[in-house]
Formats: sequence, structure tokens, C-alpha cells
Amino acid sequence: MPRKILVTSALPYANGSIHLGHLVEYIQTDIWVRFQKMSGNTCHYVCADDTHGTPIMLRAEKEGITPEQLIAKVWLEHYDDFRAFHVAFDNYGSTNSGETKEFAEGIYRTLKAENLIDVRSIEQYYDPLKKMFLPDRFIKGECPKCGAKDQYGDNCESCGAAYAPTELKNPYSAVSGAPPELRQSKHYFFKLSSPSCQQFLREWTRSGSLQAEASNKMQEWLGAEGDNKLTDWDISRDAPYFGFEIPDAPGKYFYVWLDAPVGYMGSFKQLCKTKGISFDDFWRQGSDAELYHFIGKDILYFHALFWPAMLQHAGFRTPTKLFAHGFLTVNGEKMSKSRGTFITARSYVDHVQNTEYLRYYYAAKLNGSMEDLDLNLDDFVARVNSDLIGKYINIASRSAGFISKRFDGKLADHALLAKCASTSGLAGKLVEDFPKKNLLEVLQDSAEQIAEMYEARDYSRATRTVGSLLDLINAYIDATKPWELAKDPSNVEWLQGVCSVALQAFRIITIYLKPVLPHLAKDVESFLNVGELNWQDAHELLPSGHGINAYQHLMSRLDPKCIEAMVEANKQSLQPTPPPTSQQRHAEHQQHAAAPIVTEPGDATLPLKNVTMIAPIAETISIEDFSKIDLRVAHIINAEHVEGAEKLLKLTLDIGEPQPRTVFAGIKSAYDPEKLKGRMTVMVANLAPRKMKFGLSEGMVLAASGETPGLFVLSPDSGAQPGMRIK
Ligand code: MSP
Ligand code: ZN
Repeated sequence: MPRKILVTSALPYANGSIHLGHLVEYIQTDIWVRFQKMSGNTCHYVCADDTHGTPIMLRAEKEGITPEQLIAKVWLEHYDDFRAFHVAFDNYGSTNSGETKEFAEGIYRTLKAENLIDVRSIEQYYDPLKKMFLPDRFIKGECPKCGAKDQYGDNCESCGAAYAPTELKNPYSAVSGAPPELRQSKHYFFKLSSPSCQQFLREWTRSGSLQAEASNKMQEWLGAEGDNKLTDWDISRDAPYFGFEIPDAPGKYFYVWLDAPVGYMGSFKQLCKTKGISFDDFWRQGSDAELYHFIGKDILYFHALFWPAMLQHAGFRTPTKLFAHGFLTVNGEKMSKSRGTFITARSYVDHVQNTEYLRYYYAAKLNGSMEDLDLNLDDFVARVNSDLIGKYINIASRSAGFISKRFDGKLADHALLAKCASTSGLAGKLVEDFPKKNLLEVLQDSAEQIAEMYEARDYSRATRTVGSLLDLINAYIDATKPWELAKDPSNVEWLQGVCSVALQAFRIITIYLKPVLPHLAKDVESFLNVGELNWQDAHELLPSGHGINAYQHLMSRLDPKCIEAMVEANKQSLQPTPPPTSQQRHAEHQQHAAAPIVTEPGDATLPLKNVTMIAPIAETISIEDFSKIDLRVAHIINAEHVEGAEKLLKLTLDIGEPQPRTVFAGIKSAYDPEKLKGRMTVMVANLAPRKMKFGLSEGMVLAASGETPGLFVLSPDSGAQPGMRIK
């Protein structure tokens, strides 16, 4: 009986780009889903953008567009990114959908009827300028423990202390900078502390729905039997908020984390509508379908406590299992913007192109646990080239040519295969394990074992097992030497037999790698002239005399230069973006005009007038952000043209260091180098040096530019000395 399975990945926030950290999750899930589908199970995979909340509302406002416009734009970007990485959702929705709204309201109403919703007044910081309550992350101030400045309202990045925002000293709003006021407001709570929730969650934790590590965390959160460690969950936010208004509570909105998991249902409901699937089959209490959520360890709390308790008390089934994973590190460290290792999906596609390299590398590292996973960029290149190209693709490229040229593309018959496929004479552990079998039987006998590894999400074991099978196949080719056989016409039968064994083997391995490399597998299917390969097909061979197509190049080596360029590009994306072109500006202007920005009566024309004159003001930063930039007074001791450079001048700058700095500045169009010599200016002294065609550039000089032509290099007032800091 095929299983009925519904799978989700966490819904990415619509306020940022997809990066390689996110992809750990989506690739992991996609591999599992593809494996289930290949195994003949009914498996639906849904996801959606998580679109609500204050950050999205504020970002849209900053960009001068409506939140709806913002989330539509981001949805398209996310959708393209996932497609590029072959993450094949059956439905990719949005939490800002009618379906999600309906479920969120329905669940809320049921919980309320069950007496699980409480309304209480709480005291919270309010921004009197911006006229809004402030989420913890939007309040900053001095740490109550160590006094560090500019710390967030929930914890201190300097000493690690956790506290309430009201404990911060000298608090200010990160939105407007104003000192916040404490105000009372009515909030809605889900009564997680109720005996019924506590009891249910204890049972649910014991029901085997969690990995061992997650289950331990749950015990910690729940405390010992009889303890009541859970507190009620605040599910409402005050207007202005981008989200769903709570029924019967005007001006109150569902907190983003209430409707986010409900988005799983909303997205699935959309799929049900288009595919005629029964929603209730999957979500009613007692359903025999399986429900799995793939999530990062950071959001376990929401998925292991709130979500199952909500579902249970609203009359729905609860998840069969949560599959939590760890976080991505790059080269052993947290992803970092300044090191260029905060790599977006888009920049990977731009520089590396082949996304199956990354799918393979992640598969080789994922083991179904909550441990963090490291993307070591050197190891990545080495692994892809040695395993994928060296061991796997080479099997086909070494044997297909002979079959095409000498045998009209026809594979040997099965009697000849049996004669040629003996593993005797080959060394290695697998040969010892299967002493009497031929090579193809050894490969086929691994199907169940590898399937179990995929099922258990232990893809690293699956790829390792495939790796040893590949070693065996390569040992076979090395021992039988088709290129030698080809030299002697009396060996023609052996040649066909040996190359056919290799290609039959290649097909079986392709089945085992297909969940990881779906795009490549498609190309192999057309090369081998076969239909869609499924798991069970591993137990059969291509028929006697089967005709294959000419071998086409399947995969190239990964050039380490692409990786360097990608890292460099992610570093550079930190540098100030150039002012928008007049066309972009125009678009922005229109969006401003279209967006219902709330302004005081009387000044409605003011912002629009400004917009046509200057580029939109960038995102608000803290003083801490600003102070990361080390600006220095610089004395231009030399300025010269650069041969072959259209826009650059080479500047030699003294900023009080023993050696002067070299900076290539794009100011040639506006300045005669002679006129610059001896002048004082301002430079960014701590910008990462950048290798350019003409040499190393060790900083940046500052210049103003606008819509009209002209570039204006800055100068300090007279008296400023080289090396003085500008702050
Ligand atoms: N919107 C919430 C999830 C709501 S689910 C009902 C969210 N979004 S997120 O964009 O921040 O993250 C989406 C998923 O990607 C989460 O499961 C998160 O753990 C995962 N990852 C985000 N950064 C990651 C790494 N650096 N490494 C591994 N996974 C990461 O959380
Ligand atoms: Zn502190």
C-alpha cells in the first residue's frame, strides 16, 4: 500500500533573500520528497512565503511601496531561487492568502469556544512619533547588565544577557529614534499553561514525534511532571500591523507566528483545489496520512509547543514527526557578510550556475540530526570534482563511446553481461561481502539499504554507500580496460560486454542519486533512452540489445575560480549601491505616488517633490552600524591616469600611516589629476582591499553625485590633518 504523505519546509520570511543557509532545509526536504515519490508513495510538498509582521510593514514603507507590492516582488524572487535549485514544491503559496486567513480565523474561533483564549492588558513600549507599539527587536538601549550601548530589547550581544525591553537603560525606538513610552494595551493569549495543553504536550513528546535531541529540549521546556513551566502565548499585535485582523477584535492582528504555520494548511488547501485532493484526508483527527515538517532548530519551540497544541485543540490532526536540522556554517564559521560567506542563492546561480553541485555536497553532509553543517568551500570543490565527475560521470564517458561507435549504440545481451560482470579478481570490501555475485547484482542488492538511509534522512550514509559502489565499478573498469580491449578485434565481444556492464551500472547508480541530482538524472534518462527512472527500476536491467543515444557531456568540473568570484561578489554587495538610474528612479516615483503613504494633511506633496530630486534615503542604520566605517582625512600626494582605464584615476593617499595607500577612484570624468594633487579629501580606510585589473585598491574616496552630470570629491575644512578620524 503506498503511503499518503504531506511534507512542508518552514516558510521563508518575505523580508529577505534566500541564502545558502535556507537551502540546507529546502534541499534536504526536496531530496526526501523526491525519494518518496520515486518509491511510489503519494507525497505532496507544500511551502509558502511568510509575509506578515512589523519588519515587512516597515520595509515596504521604506521602499515606498505597499506591503502587498513588496511581498509580491519577493515571492517571485523566492520562487525563481527555489526553481533554480530544483526544489520542486507541489504548491508554493503565501500566508497572505484567503485560504490561510480562513484557517487562522477558524482555529482562533474554535480555541476561543474551547475557552483557550484569554484577553489581558499588558504594558509595552510605544513609539510616540511613529505611533506604534514596538516589537522587542525595534527597541534599543543600554544593556541592564553590562551597560553596552545600542543593544536590542531582548538580549545583549555583548554579554549575552537576556532581559525584557523595559529593563534597558535609556531606551530608544529603532524606528524613529524617539524615547519610547510605556503604554497599556489589550492582548490576546493562547492558554498554553492550561492543564489540557500541558497534558497533551507531555503525551505528544512521548509519542515519538521528535528526534532525541528535540525531545530532550521539550522535556526542558515542559519541566518535570507536575511543574507548570509553560506560559500563555501572546498571539495578538496592535495596529498598525501587516497581517490578519482578529475576528471581533478591531485594531488587533494575529501575530505573524500564529498564521505562519497555518500557512502550511493554506498552501495545501490551494493544492487540493487545483488537484482535487481531499484536504480532510490529510488533516482530520485520526487521519491515516503522514504529516512531516522540516524545520531549523531555531524554530523548534514554535513547532513543538504552540503548533501541535493549537492543532489538537482546534480539532485537527497533529504532525507525525518534526524533522529539525542544524545551521549552516561556511568554512567553519557563522555566515558572514564581511567575509563574503553570507551567500545568496542568486549569487550562487550567477557564479557557479550548476546548483546540483550544492545539492550533492549538502546530501553528503546531512545525517538527519540537529547538528550544524559546514560548507567548506575548498572541500566543496574537491568533493564535487572527485566524487561526481571523477567517480560517477566518468563511468559513462569512458564506456559510452565504444558502444556508440562500435556497436551501433546497442548494449550486450544479458547472457554476455552475466559472463562479463564477474567481480572475481577485483579487490575491495564489497567484493568480500558478495563473493559469488556479479557486479550488477552487487549494485542491485544495495537498493533496500540505500532506501532506508534516505528514509531516515541519513543522506550522508546514502552517498557514502553509493561512493563505495562507484569505487567498485571504477575498479571493474580499471581491471577490464576497455581501451585495451578495443585494440584487438578478437576481443570485440568482451568490449561490448564490459562497456555494457559499465553502462548498466551507471544507470543503477543514477537511480540511487536521482533524489539528489534530479536534473542530471533527466539527462541520463535521455542519454540511456529510457523513461522516468523509479526506485524499483534498480532491480531490473536495460533489456538485451537496448539502444542508447550518443553520449552528450553530462557535467563539467567545478572551477574554484567561480567560488572565489562568488565570495568576492557577496563581499561587494556590502558596498554602497550606486544611485539608481533615472529609469529606476522613475519607477520608484510612480510607486511613491501609488502607495497610500499616510502623511499629515497639508504636506502631501512634499515627499513627492523631494523624491524627484534625490534618490530615496537608504534603510535606517544605528550609530553602531555607522561607526563600523572608519573615515579618515586623506592627503592626495599623487594622482595619475591609469593606462587602459576609462573611468579610473590612481590616487596615492597619506592617512598618517607609515606607507601611503593606493586607491583607484572612478572620478576620471570629472577631475584632471594635476588639480587633485596636494588636496585633502575623505576616504573609507577600513574597506576590504579589492584586487582590480590595474592593481590593489586599498580603500575608497568619497564623492557626491546626483541625477545631473558631475562628481564632487569631498574636502574637510582647512586645518584638518591626514589621518584624523571623521565621525
Ligand atoms: N518564517 C519563519 C518560519 C515560519 S514556519 C511556519 C522563519 N523564516 S526564515 O526565513 O528565517 O527561515 C526559514 C527556514 O530556514 C527555517 O527553518 C530556518 O531554520 C532555516 N534557516 C535559516 N537560516 C539558516 C541557516 N543559516 N542554516 C540552516 N537553516 C537556516 O524562520
Ligand atoms: Zn550586556
